[in-house]
Amino acid sequence: MKNEIIKIENGNKIFNKKRNIKVFENLSFNVYANDFIGIYGDSGNGKTTLINIIGLLDNLSTGSYYLFNDIDTKKLSDFNKAYYRNRLFGYIFQEYSLIEDYTVLENILLPTKYNKNSSKKDSIINAKKLLCNFGIEEKENEVVANLSGGQRQRVAIARALINHPKIIIADEPTSALDKENKKYVLDTLKLINESGVTIILVTHDEASTIYCNRLFKMEKNNFYEVIK
Ligand SMILES: Nc1ncnc2c1ncn2[C@@H]1O[C@H](COP(=O)(O)OP(=O)(O)OP(=O)(O)O)[C@@H](O)[C@H]1O
Ligand SMILES: [Mg+2]
Repeated sequence: MKNEIIKIENGNKIFNKKRNIKVFENLSFNVYANDFIGIYGDSGNGKTTLINIIGLLDNLSTGSYYLFNDIDTKKLSDFNKAYYRNRLFGYIFQEYSLIEDYTVLENILLPTKYNKNSSKKDSIINAKKLLCNFGIEEKENEVVANLSGGQRQRVAIARALINHPKIIIADEPTSALDKENKKYVLDTLKLINESGVTIILVTHDEASTIYCNRLFKMEKNNFYEVIK
């Protein structure tokens, strides 16, 4: 039997109760361990909202979200939520969310600050290894403000990997890239997936969807699995 690690049932999200900005209603979604999920759909349909909820950065307005079959995320304490955010998920944000005046190495090491299981020395060794894998080792001490778009994207991925997450949430990680860098990032995500990490990828790009084993479409008021 497949191991269902994420399950949303009848999820509703409304921003601003007064103005009633409804993003989605009755959304159901599940993820199996080691899936490579693709989510696509037009701008403004709620893709980022959904993956922020999955990554415990935001909450459903109503409905349920279970992690690992029986953990009701509504009942998680703030401490446990923070733990999962730090240790279960790796995030690659739509705008990368790197700190411009920190160096590449400082940016990659940010998530390790809250991870008591890794020593500073091990984290630095690991970060340097990631930089080598991504071919940007010579940029280690460069501030992010001086990097190209493709280099920033690699730093963002390295940062998402530093705590060895089980699930990577990537919000349009290739949107700003040329064809070659796009392929590089997607091939990298595929390799990470093959090493046992579950990937949830939001994309506008039809070509990226061939990397996914399951594909979901987010329309206005409709979210469904597309049979590939
Ligand atoms: N904090 C917020 N308060 C109010 N409305 C919000 C908030 N965040 C998002 N929205 C609205 O929710 C809707 C969905 O936004 P979201 O960012 O999830 O879309 P998206 O599918 O990721 O779009 P894109 O492809 O442009 O990134 C939009 O109408 C947006 O304006
Ligand atoms: Mg978005």
